[in-house]
Amino acid sequence: MATPESRGGEGGSPSPEAEGERLQKVLARVGVGSRRVCEDLIADGRVTVNGAVAVLGRRVDPGRDVVEVDGALVPVRPGLVTYLLNKPAGVVTTARDTHGRPTVVSLVPAEPRVFPVGRLDAATEGLLLLTNDGDLAHRLTHPSFGVRKEYLAEVEGTPTPGELRRLREGVELDDGVTAPARVSLVAPSLVRIAIHEGRNRQVRRMCTAIGHPVVRLVRTRIGPLADPSLAPGGWRVLTPEEVRSLAAAAGGSGSRG
Ligand code: URA
Repeated sequence: MATPESRGGEGGSPSPEAEGERLQKVLARVGVGSRRVCEDLIADGRVTVNGAVAVLGRRVDPGRDVVEVDGALVPVRPGLVTYLLNKPAGVVTTARDTHGRPTVVSLVPAEPRVFPVGRLDAATEGLLLLTNDGDLAHRLTHPSFGVRKEYLAEVEGTPTPGELRRLREGVELDDGVTAPARVSLVAPSLVRIAIHEGRNRQVRRMCTAIGHPVVRLVRTRIGPLADPSLAPGGWRVLTPEEVRSLAAAAGGSGSRG
């Protein structure tokens, strides 16, 4: 957050900018690149702190300052954690379920407290992020950032090329026509579909709309992230580099993962 303090000031007492951590060190620690690479990024004017282009020698308070590279947020705050979970079917994407069903939150460590980023239907399996990083979660779920998510849908019957084209170009749902999607048939009843909208039960409704209801749905990718080695119910902490690539995919520059 930009504050008068974090922007520093003139006068007798040393400003926080002079006291914080070197920007290139902070960037390197969270996986942007080596310190040398980070120095080059700063020198090239590609790094901003609280919205202002940073110069070499800039120091920051990672707990308060907002750091962006090429307009994409770089999560630098200490204590942030993001998990990648392979959600099994039957587990609900809420913090607590009124029907006593297991929740995604109960599958990851209780501390620090995290919350799911977006949601998967109870019957849907696959990749789900949980984090305590509110900024990252906001960017990932906000429609204007549009991170692409990929699903494997086992469907009834075999969609024709024309039906697949409808999925690709947009199908009429009760809440409007869907945006263009990437769609391919990987086996007679198996459709790979990548969308960047996040409407409720969207993939299921799209498949029903072309006459091939979903039998099983698995999310296999979120932006740059995939992990076929993660067993159902398994989770892992994202590396700083993965968090950074995710934040970049959700960046304000219109890039899509
Ligand atoms: N689309 C769906 O239909 N269900 C999900 O859980 C996610 C996307």
